Amino acid sequence: MLDQLNQIQSQGLGELSAISDADALEAWRIKYLGSKGLIKSAMPGMKNVSKEDKPAVGKLFNEIKRALETAFAEKSKEIDSGSKKTTSTIDITEPGLPCGQGRRHVLSRTIDEITEVFARMGFSVVYGPEVEDELHNFDALNIPRDHPAREPIDNFYLRKVGAESSDASHGSGLMLRSQTSTVQIRTMENTEPPIKVIAVGRVYRPDTHDATHFSMFHQVEGLYVDKNVTMVDLKTTLIQFARAYFGPEAEVRMRPSFFPFTEPSAEVDMKMKVKGKWQWVELGGCGMVDPNVFDAVGYDPEIWTGFAFGLGIERIAMRKYGIADIRWLFENDARFLRQF
Ligand code: DAH
Repeated sequence: MLDQLNQIQSQGLGELSAISDADALEAWRIKYLGSKGLIKSAMPGMKNVSKEDKPAVGKLFNEIKRALETAFAEKSKEIDSGSKKTTSTIDITEPGLPCGQGRRHVLSRTIDEITEVFARMGFSVVYGPEVEDELHNFDALNIPRDHPAREPIDNFYLRKVGAESSDASHGSGLMLRSQTSTVQIRTMENTEPPIKVIAVGRVYRPDTHDATHFSMFHQVEGLYVDKNVTMVDLKTTLIQFARAYFGPEAEVRMRPSFFPFTEPSAEVDMKMKVKGKWQWVELGGCGMVDPNVFDAVGYDPEIWTGFAFGLGIERIAMRKYGIADIRWLFENDARFLRQF
């Protein structure tokens, strides 16, 4: 019996050491450790062992079984990791997959450039929320309750959760801001003058989409409040911006207009290079801050004066880069965006 067991062990370990693939390993397992394998079939031989030898033989039996199991487990691990190594081999001569390079969106770039020019002129950048209340979008900007600019058809009013309709009383009193002029109010509410800021961001209006209209677009708003600010400061600032951004031949034209939050008010045109030719382009509005706006934020209009302006960023980018359709800016077509 002892000889038989020792024989099984040495033969088993010998055969196992020669094995190098999973199939042969499995055959080995069945031959030695399987339910009809050599170990199991040696068991009945225990019957013939004398009573006093039984404990020693039984111990040896278990030791041999364990030795074969351990050797088998080690061999499995070895074969397993070997097969992984072969499948993960990298062919370093194979050409790589092309990896597309991303870039900043043409509007983001335009915003960065504009911000940079104004920053050099001493304006700091401020932001305000896109979900606004009517106080900041209208009331504090001297736009009275019955003003046509507040019509529900021209604004995205927000409905209270569970409310029936978004119009009538204008629901929640909240809306998507229709202009960045809201940030003038927010800035003055929590800052003491003098103030010299620009606010850049998205605004929303329910326009029908076409080549020049989109329900969301971007504005850059400027606000300068100090003592003795005049229209000359306003025009000088706009000219300095135009020359720095569009080139030394750029010009600024102001046409008398009306905005509730400025008095006097003007529309701003800038002469810029469009497809190689200098051309006047309407960019937005500007004016001297209306005393009613100062009242609304608690500034004394007898002491403080200021100018403000608001320019459309898409208009600037479209003319500067020769983009014919505003919708292309928001379609995220890489073939279009790659060009800038
Ligand atoms: N908020 C105006 C608009 O969206 C633009 C504008 C006009 C802004 C005159 C100003 C301003 O700051 O003074 O049409």
